[in-house]
Amino acid sequence: MVFGVVGIAAAAVAIPLAATSSSTSVIGIAQGTNAGQQSGNSTQNQEPSEEDKNDPRLKKFTVRTHCDEEHPLREAVDEKQVVLRNGKFYLDEVDPERRKYKDGHAFAGFYLEYPWLEKPLGLVSTIKPEPPELNWIFLNKKNLSICYGNKTASLEHGIAGPWDWTEDMEGITFAGEESFVAMEESPGDWLVCYDAMDDMLQSANVGERAVLAISLDRVML
Ligand SMILES: *[C@@H]1O[C@H](CO)[C@@H](O)[C@H](O)[C@H]1NC(C)=O
Ligand SMILES: *[C@@H]1O[C@H](CO)[C@@H](O)[C@H](O)[C@H]1NC(C)=O
Ligand SMILES: *[C@@H]1O[C@H](CO)[C@@H](O)[C@H](O)[C@H]1NC(C)=O
Repeated sequence: MVFGVVGIAAAAVAIPLAATSSSTSVIGIAQGTNAGQQSGNSTQNQEPSEEDKNDPRLKKFTVRTHCDEEHPLREAVDEKQVVLRNGKFYLDEVDPERRKYKDGHAFAGFYLEYPWLEKPLGLVSTIKPEPPELNWIFLNKKNLSICYGNKTASLEHGIAGPWDWTEDMEGITFAGEESFVAMEESPGDWLVCYDAMDDMLQSANVGERAVLAISLDRVML
C-alpha cells in the first residue's frame, strides 16, 4: 500500500488523486502539478483547482539546520541537512557526496492537514526516492524526538502538529515555537528533538548527552 498515507492525506485537502495508481510523483500530485509524468490512461484525470495549485503550504521543501550557540560542538549541527533514517530525523552533510548515512533520505516534504484528532496542520516527507511514499512527521510524546511514520505510528506515539512556518516563512515551527534542539544520541550522531519543556531536554532524561539549540530552515526544492 505504497500510497496509503498519501491517499488519505490528499483526500482530506481535496487534492486530485488522478495518478495514484501510476508511478507519478507523489509530490507532483499533491501540488497539483503534472510534472510531465501523468499516465495517459487515467479516466479520472482532473485538473487541479487554482486554489490547490497556488497553495504555498503544498510547495515542496527540504530542511537544513542553523545553530547560533557558542558551543564547541556548534559546527557539528550548524548548516546540516535533515535526513530521515531509523524512524527519526538525523543531521548529515548538505553535500550528498559527503553524507555519512547510506540509509539516510534527505527530507523532502510539505505541509498538509492531518486528517485525524484535532486536524492540526501536519507535515509530511517522502521516506525514500522511489517509489515515492510519504510519512507523517510527528513529535514522539515519550522522549521528544522528531519521528516519522504512518498513520498508526503517528497516532500511537506522536503529536502530529500543529506544524507551521515562521512569519517570514523560512523557519519551521511546532506548536507555534521554534524550540528545536540537536541531541547527540551517540558520539557524532545527532538527532532532532523538540525542547517542549524549554529545559534543553533535561526532563526527557537525556543525561550527559550534548544538546544544542537549532533552527530548522526551509529550503525550497
Ligand atoms: C494503459 O492501459 C492499458 C490497458 O488498460 C495498459 O496496457 C497500459 O500499460 C496503460 N498505460 C499506462 C501508461 O498506464
Ligand atoms: C524515542 O523513541 C523512539 C521510538 O521508540 C526511538 O526510536 C528514539 O530513539 C527515542 N529517542 C531517544 C532520544 O531516545
Ligand atoms: C505502520 O507502521 C508500523 C511500524 O511503525 C508497522 O508495524 C505497520 O505495519 C504499518 N502499518 C501500515 C498500514 O503500513
